[in-house]
Amino acid sequence: MGRTGLGLGVVLAGLLAAGPAQADGDAAKGKAKYATCVACHGANGEGNVALNAPTIAGQATWYLERQLKHFKDSVRGADAKDVYGMQMRPMAMILATDQDIADVAAHVSGLKAAKSAGTLGGDAAKGKALYGLCTACHGPKAEGMQALNSPRLTFQQDWYLLRQLKNFQSGLRGAHPQDVYGMQMAPMAKTLVNEQALKDVIAYIKSLEQ
Ligand code: HEC
Ligand code: HEC
Repeated sequence: MGRTGLGLGVVLAGLLAAGPAQADGDAAKGKAKYATCVACHGANGEGNVALNAPTIAGQATWYLERQLKHFKDSVRGADAKDVYGMQMRPMAMILATDQDIADVAAHVSGLKAAKSAGTLGGDAAKGKALYGLCTACHGPKAEGMQALNSPRLTFQQDWYLLRQLKNFQSGLRGAHPQDVYGMQMAPMAKTLVNEQALKDVIAYIKSLEQ
């Protein structure tokens, strides 16, 4: 399978990914359904730091659909301490059917992601070494790899990446028994042993944007 060295769990998850067929999204219909999302994520899916809403523009449909379903099904964003996930969860609930989710994901995926300035001041050179482990799943350019269920990390706001890595470390994300993919990520976040390591790896990810 060409996935030597990543362990059985990853291989199994790869097989699971082949799972139920997804509905084909209609981007034109999704645009109308995206109206409720604009307030926080912006008309171009660029995100809004003041509202804690991340960039979603240009993210892959399979990842967008999975996150929306996870929010809707309380697999993500249901922990009372997950303040920001709790804001997003009711928004996903507005999308009544899998077709609605597929449509809105098709629209968001078609929006063009823009670079955002780094705000955390990490050291990209040090972060490069730390990113070595991440390459296996997120790809050498942090472009994401569907076969390993791992999303694109570039073009994401650095404060959001930091919050998610901390959420994986603390168990606010990736601890729900149905969160198969989050559970693969959680131990990876724990390899980043302090705040500086988190900022450094994020600075390196930001440096890959082009
Ligand atoms: C009230 C503000 C708000 C609205 C409206 C909103 N969101 Fe969000 N969304 C958020 C916040 C805050 C987060 C970050 C949650 C976290 O930190 O875990 C988020 C996260 C997400 C994510 C996860 C991104 C990732 O990289 O994992 C997706 C996808 C998403 N929103 C899509 C949508 C869509 C589609 C809509 C419209 C149906 C929508 N959001 C409406 C606030 C909002
Ligand atoms: C074994 C594969 C694997 C490795 C190695 C890995 N990740 Fe992940 N990562 C994932 C998966 C799968 C997800 C998606 C989880 C989900 O669906 O909620 C993810 C999600 C993420 C997210 C959340 C993105 C978002 O939009 O919310 C961040 C940030 C992240 N990874 C960073 C890293 C960093 C940094 C490293 C290296 C220290 C790393 N990952 C190593 C599999 C991996």
